[in-house]
This record gives sequence, structure tokens and C-alpha cells, in this order.
Amino acid sequence: MLAAVLDTAAAPMKIMEIDIQDPGPGQVRVGVRHCGCCHSDLSIAEGTFPAPVPIVLGHEASGVVDAVGSGVHHLKPGDHVVLTSCPPCGNCYWCVRGQASSCVNSMSIMTNQFLDGTTGLSRNGEVVYRGVGLGGFAEYVLTEAHGAVKIDKEVPLEVACVVGCAVQTGVGAVLNTAEVTEGSTVLVLGLGGIGLSVVQGARLAGATRIFVSDPLAERREAAGALGATDLIDPTREDVISEAQLKTGGIGVDYAFECAGHGDLITQAMTATRNAGTIVCVGAPPIDHNITVAPASLFVMTAKRLMGTILGGCNSLREIPRMIGLYQTGRLDLEALITSRRPLTEINEAMDDLSKGRGIRTVLDVSSGH
Ligand SMILES: NC(=O)c1ccc[n+]([C@@H]2O[C@H](COP(=O)([O-])OP(=O)(O)OC[C@H]3O[C@@H](n4cnc5c(N)ncnc54)[C@H](O)[C@@H]3O)[C@@H](O)[C@H]2O)c1
Ligand SMILES: [Zn+2]
Ligand SMILES: [Zn+2]
Repeated sequence: MLAAVLDTAAAPMKIMEIDIQDPGPGQVRVGVRHCGCCHSDLSIAEGTFPAPVPIVLGHEASGVVDAVGSGVHHLKPGDHVVLTSCPPCGNCYWCVRGQASSCVNSMSIMTNQFLDGTTGLSRNGEVVYRGVGLGGFAEYVLTEAHGAVKIDKEVPLEVACVVGCAVQTGVGAVLNTAEVTEGSTVLVLGLGGIGLSVVQGARLAGATRIFVSDPLAERREAAGALGATDLIDPTREDVISEAQLKTGGIGVDYAFECAGHGDLITQAMTATRNAGTIVCVGAPPIDHNITVAPASLFVMTAKRLMGTILGGCNSLREIPRMIGLYQTGRLDLEALITSRRPLTEINEAMDDLSKGRGIRTVLDVSSGH
């Protein structure tokens, strides 16, 4: 099959033929139709987040089931699916406690290989890694059967793909991780596909005031159209004093860092009221740290600082739920997608993301099947 392969960090990806295995027991192979470009792919491609090479990136994909392995009864060739990089096993310590996105058996999102060390991908006999638990910048993906979640055939696959990462992560961070309550005040720092999904999650949760900050005017305007009430330009205004002033000197109830900068986590913590909640959604470069100083102040202010992986989503529940919200007009997926490109333009798509052109670029990978 054709795939976009990264051989060296910070070098362009190349489209080339690689081999993909037939599905083994409990696996499915999916013909990828569309795959969105997420900043986590860019961080690996640029080398700010470590990963083994050669690797096929892409983890926000939709497609059509091509073949199923033995023991797979709930999917069949022709089914439309959204893929997830965190397939919950259902049985581990985390899954049985309702924390499926931390499933110990879906560590593939970090290791870029299946649990047994295989990837199902190779090039002239050499192993090729499955980026971010998927490898969606390719004509086919091999995954666990519970990593492909069936959706209604009436839902356009070219739109559904963004649920795979941006929407699960952003909406999930609000509904599952923070559990934002109706009438709350929310601050969102960084308005890419993830931050704009947080804005939509906050609107769904009934937040009454949604402050957003991003240096890019186009993204602030997009946030306004999706429900943000106060648009802040961090290059001209002081985000912390804006959020504090407009909440009567209290600070926001919830803040979400969605840019992936260690320093912004500190900004989010300062803008949040005592006993409020800060969720770190962005994945900062590996050498960034979180500074909480002085420790005694952190204790006394009783703030809750949280991380999140894929918005705390159990994808088997959340992908159909979010597709349902889209179908009933309560979640806008189209607004996140501002550009479409063929797989051959993978490097241009990564450049869109790195330069902040538009919001999400989706690659169309349907040519081969
Ligand atoms: N936790 C998870 O499970 C998870 C899942 C997916 C993505 N991520 C991470 O989320 C982050 C966002 O991903 P994305 O695809 O939306 O990225 P993106 O590049 O599209 O968006 C990031 C936004 O942050 C803005 N920004 C930069 N500096 C800022 C500042 N000082 N103040 C406010 N905004 C600022 C940028 O202008 C940009 O609009 C990345 O770090 C990504 O790796 C985490
Ligand atoms: Zn992602
Ligand atoms: Zn599990």
C-alpha cells in the first residue's frame, strides 16, 4: 500500500509503497478514507516529541473495514468506522474503573507498536512503526477490532474523521476530565482543532462565559462562532487580568491549556479561581516543565491540576455519542475542517498546521480503494 513515511525527524515525509499484514485474530484492516492532521503528528515530525523511525503518522482517521481477523464478529467488510488510538481492552485495572483512555493495553499511542512489539507494517523486511497508535497517513490501517468504531453510513466519512482525535480530546476534556458544570466560567488557551473542540464542549456543558485566547485572529473568530463569549488576543491583552476582571476578580472556574506550552499551564493556573480546575490538554515538547511555585500556595489555593489523554474518552462510547451530537446539530465538525489535500500533499498539510493556516487540514486518502 501507499503510505507517508517519516524516515528522519525534521525531514519531509515521503510517499512510498510499504507492506501491511492481513488482520490476525482480534484485528481488523481498514481502508483509510480521510485523516486529519493533529499537532501531535507535527511534534513527532518536527522531532520535539520522540518516536522511533521509520514511522507512519496520522491518528485522526475514518474509513471502511476491508478485512476482519478470526474472532471478530461485530464488524464486517464494508462497515464505516472512525478509528481511535486508544482502543479500550475493557478488562484492565483502568478500563474497569471507567478510565478507558488510560487503558494499559492501549499504550500503542506512546510506543507506536502493538502490545506484542509487532506493528503489522514493514518496508523491505524492515519494521515500520504505527504512529500514535494508528498510522493513518496510509491507504490502510491494521488495528485491534475495538480500535475501529462503527458509525452510521449516512454520516460523511470526510467529516467524521475529526472525531478520532480533536473532538474526542477537546469535548472529552470538558465532559469527562473536568466535568464542567452548567453555569460555569471557562478559559481556553490555544484554538486549534483541540481548543475549538473544548469551546464546543464547554458550550454543550452549559458554560455561561467562555474566554478564549489565541494569537491568530481567524481562530479567535472561529471560536466566537462556536460559542466563545470573550475573545482575547494574547499579543495585545493580558489574559490573566482579562479573565479575572470579567469574573468579578474571582478567576475562571475551569481553564484548559490547548497549545502545548509549559508556560501557558502557569498562565492557566493563575487565571483560575481558588478551588477551580486546570486541565492540561496540550502536549508540550519533552523538555518543558510545569512550574508550581510556591508549593504551599498550590496547597492553600486548593486548585485541581489535571492531565488528560484523549479527553478521558472510552472511544466505544464517545465516538457514537459525538457523532450523534453532530447529527442533531449540537456539535459542529465542519467548522474545524478548513482545508482538504490528497495524501501526496502530506508535507504541505503539515506546513498548514505549523504556520497556523486555517484550522484542521484533512487528507483525502481514498484514491486506492
Ligand atoms: N492530551 C491529548 O490526548 C492530546 C490529544 C491531541 C492533541 N494534543 C495536543 O494538543 C495540542 C493542540 O493540538 P492542535 O492540533 O489543536 O494544535 P494547533 O497547532 O492547531 O493549535 C495550537 C494553537 O495554540 C495557539 N497558541 C500558540 N501560542 C499561544 C499562546 N501563547 N496563547 C494562546 N494560544 C497560543 C496557536 O496559535 C494555535 O492556534 C498539541 O500540543 C497536541 O499535541 C493532546
Ligand atoms: Zn491528536
Ligand atoms: Zn484496558
